[in-house]
Amino acid sequence: MKVSAIVPAAGLGRRLKAKGSKALFEIDGKPLLLHTLARLKRCHAFLDIVIAAPARHLREIIQLVDGEKIAKVKVVAGGKTRAESVRNAFLETAPSSEWVLVHDAARPLVSPALCKRLLDGVRETGAAIPVEPVAATVKEADAKNEYVRRTVKRERLFLAQTPQVFRKDLLRQAYRRLGKKAFLATDEAGLFEGSGVRVKLVEGEKQNLKITTPDDVDLYQFYAHRNRV
Ligand code: CTP
Ligand code: MG
Repeated sequence: MKVSAIVPAAGLGRRLKAKGSKALFEIDGKPLLLHTLARLKRCHAFLDIVIAAPARHLREIIQLVDGEKIAKVKVVAGGKTRAESVRNAFLETAPSSEWVLVHDAARPLVSPALCKRLLDGVRETGAAIPVEPVAATVKEADAKNEYVRRTVKRERLFLAQTPQVFRKDLLRQAYRRLGKKAFLATDEAGLFEGSGVRVKLVEGEKQNLKITTPDDVDLYQFYAHRNRV
């Protein structure tokens, strides 16, 4: 499969208190982006990897990635939202790729097994995402988030992860159809709602956590060291 990887890495890491760039936040002496790229490049022989970086840190991130000597990596300036960053990167993917795999820089534990399930699953409808079932009891609150309104049935609820994989022409069509509205989506699967394209659910991995707050760094280190990375 001819796959371009897109890595949105232009976030500021406010909740992590990352001082300007989550991708550059160091864990065990190495920027988070490099932890993620090291894992991602082992997942598939990507045609290219396009990283969306914060405009302010573009040069720094280009230098960082150059130092790693990863084949066919490109760095572009991200946008105001995650979705806009992904679209900017999408425009720079290799013209010959037929599939795109979008993976958050903030998820360093992406595994080859997960990517394989996604690349197999995506052939069915042209869109596939990894999900985790909701294990907790879910409460909906009142309008002020002060009191419980009701318990929500969790059987049909799932937490979406990345990588998310799409046929490139379908994603291009979605961008054309939605225009700037596409930049409001919190993931790329959201661009297909109401479009007739079915997004396939693939079993995600609990370990594939997103680093959002300082607690997640501790959890990442636990898993990474246990797996001897
Ligand atoms: N992202 C991006 N461009 C943006 C915002 C986010 O490429 N304008 C990326 C982040 O770099 C991250 C992923 O989207 O890899 C998920 O975003 P999130 O976890 O929210 O990261 P941040 O936006 O950096 O964190 P925060 O919301 O706490 O500031
Ligand atoms: Mg964010």
